Amino acid sequence: MKAIVYHGPGQKAWEEVPDPVIIDDTDAIVRVDAVTICGTDLHILKGDVPAVTEGRILGHEAVGTVESVGAGVKNVKVGDRVLVSCITACGACRYCREGSYGQCLGGGGWILGHKIDGTQAEKVRVPFADTSTYPIPDGVSDDQILMLADILPTGYEVGVLNGHVQPGDVVAVVGAGPIGLSAIMGSKLFSPSHIIAIDLADTRLAAAKEFGADVVINNSHVDAVAEVMAMTGGLGADVAIEAVGVPATFELTTRLARPGGHIANIGVHGEPAALHLEDLWIRNVTITTGLVDTYSTPTLLRLAQGHQMNVDQFVTHHFTLDQFDDAYDVFSRAADTGALKVVLTRA
Ligand SMILES: NC(=O)c1ccc[n+]([C@@H]2O[C@H](COP(=O)([O-])OP(=O)(O)OC[C@H]3O[C@@H](n4cnc5c(N)ncnc54)[C@H](O)[C@@H]3O)[C@@H](O)[C@H]2O)c1
Ligand SMILES: [Zn+2]
Ligand SMILES: [Zn+2]
Repeated sequence: MKAIVYHGPGQKAWEEVPDPVIIDDTDAIVRVDAVTICGTDLHILKGDVPAVTEGRILGHEAVGTVESVGAGVKNVKVGDRVLVSCITACGACRYCREGSYGQCLGGGGWILGHKIDGTQAEKVRVPFADTSTYPIPDGVSDDQILMLADILPTGYEVGVLNGHVQPGDVVAVVGAGPIGLSAIMGSKLFSPSHIIAIDLADTRLAAAKEFGADVVINNSHVDAVAEVMAMTGGLGADVAIEAVGVPATFELTTRLARPGGHIANIGVHGEPAALHLEDLWIRNVTITTGLVDTYSTPTLLRLAQGHQMNVDQFVTHHFTLDQFDDAYDVFSRAADTGALKVVLTRA
């Protein structure tokens, strides 16, 4: 088969590799019908994720058809159409029993396209298939389902639910990429009074408006803290969500929350960010961090099926699997191309 193989920083190729085979009896082999690229794949290609070694097949999001299953797989059957989630769950360890699948101690967590070969391929081996795939409900397209493999549960769990968004809240989201937009879409479920999107790119702020932000701030030339304070009687936002992953945006996000408010960090940080406790200690804020667990995937599947979330809004570009080079190019130049999520399908 063919797959996107990582060959060290800056290097990848769509090339011939051996077909995956069942190793453990809880594995399934899934034929990839639709797959996408994540911002995290771009981080990997920059060399920011050293756990990804040369020869690794990238990708941690897919929709596919089950081709074979190990003897220990009980619920997933050959021919089933499934969502392959970014998080794999052994289902039995302490964290899995608590729904914290991202922290799985039994060989799961974020492993696809990271510690084992991933989904940017014609086929993928999915460990713990019973607890790591989701059956695809009727009436939802592959494009829509694919958005539930990573970005939607991430924005919803690590942003909206960790941030305790409540009806009437003012929610400020720093960074309007796919993750920030997911946090905006998830926040809307709770009827906030205002959703403020903050980004440096006007293309991304335009997308934020489409996704439900009613106030957008381009902080390349506007003081976001002053704007948010002016809107909230000098208090700040009830919930401030960080969806970028650099020190400046973490520090900005902590300054946006009101006393007693929630600060939910989603961004993956590669370097230290200052925590200004000298200002924050007296403000009763709650700061949360997290890796997505995907415990919300069944809920989000029902919301997509019930048309309560317009999930296909994310998909801006389509390609076939053999056009992976073009897809990476378009996705990596998002500010120019307007790309949010690109979907690659079998020809
Ligand atoms: N916690 C998790 O489980 C998890 C899962 C997936 C992704 N992530 C992380 O979420 C973050 C966002 O992901 P994404 O795919 O949306 O990324 P992205 O790069 O597509 O979007 C980031 C956005 O932030 C904006 N931005 C950059 N610097 C800014 C600044 N100083 N002020 C305001 N806006 C700024 C960019 O213009 C861009 O629109 C990344 O760090 C990613 O690794 C976390
Ligand atoms: Zn991802
Ligand atoms: Zn586990």
